[in-house]
Amino acid sequence: MAFHKVYLNYQTDNTNVKVNQAHRTGYHFQPKKNWINDPNAPMYYKGFYHLFYQYNPKGAVWGNIVWAHSVSTDMINWIPLEPAIVPSKPFDKYGCWSGSATLLPGDKPVILYTGIINLKPEPGHQVQNYAIPANYSDPYLRKWIKPDNNPIIKPTHENVSSFRDPTTAWFNNGHWKIIIGSKHDHRGIAYLYRSRDFVKWTKAKHPFHTKRDTGMWECPDFYPVSSRGTNGLDTSALGNDVKYVFKASLDMTRYDYYTIGKYDLIKDKYVPDNTSVDGWAGLRYDYGNFYASKTFFDPVKKRRILTGWANESSTSNEDIAKGWAGIHLIPRKVWLDPNENKLLQWPIRELENLRGQKVHLTNVKVNKGDAIEVKGITAVQADVDVTFTISNLDKAEPYDEKWARFPAEDVGKSICGIRGATIEGGVGPFGLLTLASTRLQEYTPVFLRVFKTADKKYKVLLCSDATPSSLNQNEYKPSFGGFVDVDLAKKKLSLRSLIDHSVIESFAEGGKTIISSRVYPTLATGGNAHLYVFNNGSETITIKSLEAWSMKTAHIN
Ligand code: FRU
Repeated sequence: MAFHKVYLNYQTDNTNVKVNQAHRTGYHFQPKKNWINDPNAPMYYKGFYHLFYQYNPKGAVWGNIVWAHSVSTDMINWIPLEPAIVPSKPFDKYGCWSGSATLLPGDKPVILYTGIINLKPEPGHQVQNYAIPANYSDPYLRKWIKPDNNPIIKPTHENVSSFRDPTTAWFNNGHWKIIIGSKHDHRGIAYLYRSRDFVKWTKAKHPFHTKRDTGMWECPDFYPVSSRGTNGLDTSALGNDVKYVFKASLDMTRYDYYTIGKYDLIKDKYVPDNTSVDGWAGLRYDYGNFYASKTFFDPVKKRRILTGWANESSTSNEDIAKGWAGIHLIPRKVWLDPNENKLLQWPIRELENLRGQKVHLTNVKVNKGDAIEVKGITAVQADVDVTFTISNLDKAEPYDEKWARFPAEDVGKSICGIRGATIEGGVGPFGLLTLASTRLQEYTPVFLRVFKTADKKYKVLLCSDATPSSLNQNEYKPSFGGFVDVDLAKKKLSLRSLIDHSVIESFAEGGKTIISSRVYPTLATGGNAHLYVFNNGSETITIKSLEAWSMKTAHIN
């Protein structure tokens, strides 16, 4: 609830705010100024990728929410358009909150979104509305009509203030189906609604999915993934080689959790596999700062794309002073890992078009205590892809079995936070010191540590630790961590980090575990930022191959 705090005094006029460019990103999605949160209704239509997003036109804090709109041909460079959906009718007078797009037969987009009709009860009385393009022949879809028969779905009296974020619809058995996020007491719920005509919706007798003690489920997402290959599937796809993903953004922890499971078509319910659990003990798309994400099927490249929001880690006062808050992470292709127990994610290939100046290192030994600088690129705006080899795993530190039961938040806090990059280990910590100042007064380490269980199995931990990232005392500087499901038989580990001024997105082992961090160096900015490869483990490791590129600035909004 605290998140939907209304800062009335900051929302009246910001026309004179001067945007502070210091920590703005060079190739991540953000508007020119002001607050942004969730990505909404990503879709491909007539040659353009469309992205809408929650936006406050009046300030750098959450409030006055409208649907801002940008279009792109590559999901990296974006052209801004006028906001597409803004409060104007009794059914959305106090806010146009998150929602999704569905392409109806004949390539006809329709948007479902949450309208706020009353500020009470907090955080607002919620209904579901639809909007359609005013002109289907406009590939920019500039104008949207909100028909007068809205709202099309109303809450029951129990959940007026927790009933939001309709999904993309899927079609089977003669009906369109959507889910809407909700809660009852502490139980998280995704309600299922069905419709034949997309206007008259009927609530199913049973929730599509639910789990006790997980609180409000914001921005649910439900989609099929193929168990053959990496191609994505249309949201309505059915079949033998199809599994399903269910994601909820938990308001209680402000992270995105998912499970892999089955879709029971008879009961019209989602059934998670027993390989992962719902809630904060479960799998995360990203073990760092990543929330309210959404996927869509890209019919051009036959892939499913995931896009999410990273909030600032700075204080609201700092955000107001700098005139902006919030970015979106680089869109990722998502697909099912061949062992079917998790997803794999990788930054879309289009990002690589921004790669400029390159350095390449091969077969470099990194001994305990070494920090080898990667010179010749703009370390403040870079893409680094490195593969390490380890000749001997004997020195791996013992794995504590109780860690297996840790929710992700505790893995970060209690393992990465305590065994930071400077704490000597056996195999690791080794990895990258990103956004590092010349004398290492500031740096954000992204590193791996190998542990050994009593029965001689290896466990690999990825950490991204903001603790030493900035001399500024006011920021939130979390230690994030996630275990990487990898077989160390080849004694090889890979890590890719996208570094962009105030964000670092790190992908271990081809996208098995991902961590995004927001940081605000005071010294390691612009040309004063450096990149190092380091090792603080007693076992020497080898940089088998490291490729690093300066990244060009994208044309964004
Ligand atoms: C998630 C969320 C959604 C809501 C929107 C409001 O960040 O709280 O549940 O629709 O943001 O901006």
